[in-house]
Amino acid sequence: MNPFTFYNPVKLVFGENALDKLPRELSAYGDRVLVVYGGGSIKQNGVYEAVIAKLQEANKAIFELANVEPNPRLATAKKGIALCQQENIDFILAVGGGSVIDCAKLIAAGVYYEGDAWDIVLRKVRVKEALPFGTVLTIAATGSEMNAGSVITNGETNEKRSWGSAVTFPKVSFLNPAFTTSVPRDHTVYGIVDMMSHILEQYFHNASNTLITDAMAEGVLQTIIQTAPALVDDLHNVQLRETILLAGTIGLNGFLAMGSQGDWATHDIEHAVSAVYDIPHAGGLAILQPHWMRQAVPQQPERFAGLAERVFGVTREGKSVEEVAYEGIDRLSAFWQSLGAPSKLNDYNIDDRQFDYIVAHAMAEETLGNFKLLEAEDVKQILVNAQ
Ligand code: NZQ
Ligand code: ZN
Repeated sequence: MNPFTFYNPVKLVFGENALDKLPRELSAYGDRVLVVYGGGSIKQNGVYEAVIAKLQEANKAIFELANVEPNPRLATAKKGIALCQQENIDFILAVGGGSVIDCAKLIAAGVYYEGDAWDIVLRKVRVKEALPFGTVLTIAATGSEMNAGSVITNGETNEKRSWGSAVTFPKVSFLNPAFTTSVPRDHTVYGIVDMMSHILEQYFHNASNTLITDAMAEGVLQTIIQTAPALVDDLHNVQLRETILLAGTIGLNGFLAMGSQGDWATHDIEHAVSAVYDIPHAGGLAILQPHWMRQAVPQQPERFAGLAERVFGVTREGKSVEEVAYEGIDRLSAFWQSLGAPSKLNDYNIDDRQFDYIVAHAMAEETLGNFKLLEAEDVKQILVNAQ
């Protein structure tokens, strides 16, 4: 293991009555609350009414920012920043998925920054202060409810960038599995792919003796693989939702990265693709991740073979380590396809016209990644293979 310091101050309130704790949890903050939400799903499934009722019970003055886009836009965050400044907002409550939460994070940090909020996303300025905020999560996927990261798209420049800071952890996150039962099948699958991808991106690292985090990662992956097929056939099953909801949170709250540094190249390449084509984040991951993995096998074939054996049930008899490794990747890809995820860029009508732009965008520096250092031509090859 590498030496590490673990810090995660998010209070997680999980379960069917999670929202009942909202008035007490928010009593530590001021009275003026900005509720941030997306395109309207919370108005159809009753979550909006439930949240507003709890805020009223807590005697909060309620302000709203609606219509945060999936793949949230800088312009929307700027609207939220202006609203917070005009109305002297004390606390932001993000009600929705990763997009809504990520937008709220930029609003919270942007309130204290006089320049262009895009500077924060580009990490040109160090964020030292942010408005306190909480989340009511409605879809299992990103882990944003228990981490400090945020991903924002600048619609003017077609750039999608991730950033984070020590002050952009939610103060509190309320997770009621029943709030996720209305997520349609496609977004349920995207969420499952996203959390599995997060776990895999952390699993492939160059640290040694990471037995605890390896076992946790493999255990969470196995559980997702056992649960997901039943869930996509029974979307209203609260117990299956509960399992997947916690899997998504643990997938990216820092637990699995203790003592190691993962490799986020697939995410970086996907962000570059979805900045140009505005496809669902995890649709892009389902296509790209297996190709990154195939390219990375020669780095540590045994690590891939161990994963194939323990998580995907690949037998070793009569096969080379590499064959076991590649069979595991094929099974991962087949599993995602069995849930209904895409497997080729062509599934989104993406051809090679923008490949050079995507490669340039993904490569912030000369190399990308950590477990395997990718050069521009490697990234291009992943895109070509993913066609
Ligand atoms: O906008 P509404 O109407 O709410 O509909 C949303 C949206 O259309 C819908 N939805 C959410 N909860 C629902 C529901 N529909 C019915 N019932 C419910 N209970 O689902 C759609 C997708 O929502 P979104 O928030 O975009 O999904 P997700 O949580 O997957 O977030 C994706 C964004 O997070 C970023 C991605 O790049 C993408 O922009 N990521 C953020 C990360 C982080 N902050 O740590 C890490 C990730 O790797 C990821 O990059
Ligand atoms: Zn992701």
